[in-house]
Amino acid sequence: MRVGIIGCGGMGYHHARMATNCGLRVAACGDTVRSKAEALAQEYSAEPVSDSLALVRRNDVDIVAVCTPTPNHAPYVVAAAEAGKHIFCEKPFGRTVEQCREAIAAARKAKVKLFVAHVLRYFQEFEAIKAQIDAGKVGKVGFVKSYRGGVYPRGEANWFRDYAQSGGVTLDCIIHDFDWLRYVFGDAERVFCQALQRSEPDVLDYSLVTFRMKSGVIAHVIGTWAHPSGFRVKVEVCGDGGMLQFDSADAPISSMMREQAGGTPGMIIPSSPVPVSPYQLEWQDFVGWLEGKHPPRVKPEDGLKAVRMALGALESAKTGRPVKL
Ligand SMILES: NC(=O)c1ccc[n+]([C@@H]2O[C@H](COP(=O)([O-])OP(=O)(O)OC[C@H]3O[C@@H](n4cnc5c(N)ncnc54)[C@H](O)[C@@H]3O)[C@@H](O)[C@H]2O)c1
Repeated sequence: MRVGIIGCGGMGYHHARMATNCGLRVAACGDTVRSKAEALAQEYSAEPVSDSLALVRRNDVDIVAVCTPTPNHAPYVVAAAEAGKHIFCEKPFGRTVEQCREAIAAARKAKVKLFVAHVLRYFQEFEAIKAQIDAGKVGKVGFVKSYRGGVYPRGEANWFRDYAQSGGVTLDCIIHDFDWLRYVFGDAERVFCQALQRSEPDVLDYSLVTFRMKSGVIAHVIGTWAHPSGFRVKVEVCGDGGMLQFDSADAPISSMMREQAGGTPGMIIPSSPVPVSPYQLEWQDFVGWLEGKHPPRVKPEDGLKAVRMALGALESAKTGRPVKL
């Protein structure tokens, strides 16, 4: 099968490599910045395309991978579905819940497969924690604390720094944790959030989110884009039979690279010191689904519900009141 990548920035490069590792061929690369489409296309002997709406209609593209800034995800998903292509879409699924609904409806109508890339479900540390919880190793879980963050990402044209586009750390970053909480503990009932969302004099964001899950579990999620450097992830799960903890700073391999020419990366993609990258595992899952071998670990409705959790948190931060989900 042949893949068309839309959005040739950090994730476009990453997913081109992961798709290739799964035996797929990158056939076309689309980006509004022509030089970026050309640079990625050159690595895979693919066709560079300036008009990504034309890319979705190409006969040599079977799968469209949407790796653009968040507000463009749904329009490309809808266009790709209408062109009869299967779709791999980066998280957050959409900038609004309505966009997610439109994308799901388009894929359903066209009978194409739509995968939303909530990669935390494939991180081996988080899978190990889930397995322990599912096996009852810590008994009945009462609360969960998680922490995720690092520097404020830049991205092409600094779109991450525009809260209207990225939704800041709450929508863009800790949506990973929101999805994982749902995956492990079921739906959330309500949310309360305090968020920094500072733009002047420096762009810094910090978000402290509390969910009450329908199961009764209380979950605290901290997200920060206010670090001077680096990226760190922590999680703690407490049950009446024990406690589980993970801290990426204590992981078996820790690497800190000196800044390369050209500056730090626009966005840090969390790494995992394991033989198969979780990003490749998510592609393997998606491809297995396309081949009819099994259902995917992430369904489009999961992508929508994660967006709803994040937007509920942002609404709470704005109003100062808890939001029912
Ligand atoms: N799963 C993860 O770990 C992870 C990590 C980083 C980013 N992301 C997500 O991936 C997506 C892309 O992030 P990124 O870090 O690659 O951003 P980026 O800024 O590095 O790349 C985005 C690319 O899209 C291009 N682009 C912008 N508007 C476009 C349009 N309308 N049509 C076609 N191309 C367009 C830009 O020119 C740029 O090359 C975001 O939704 C982000 O939230 C996920």
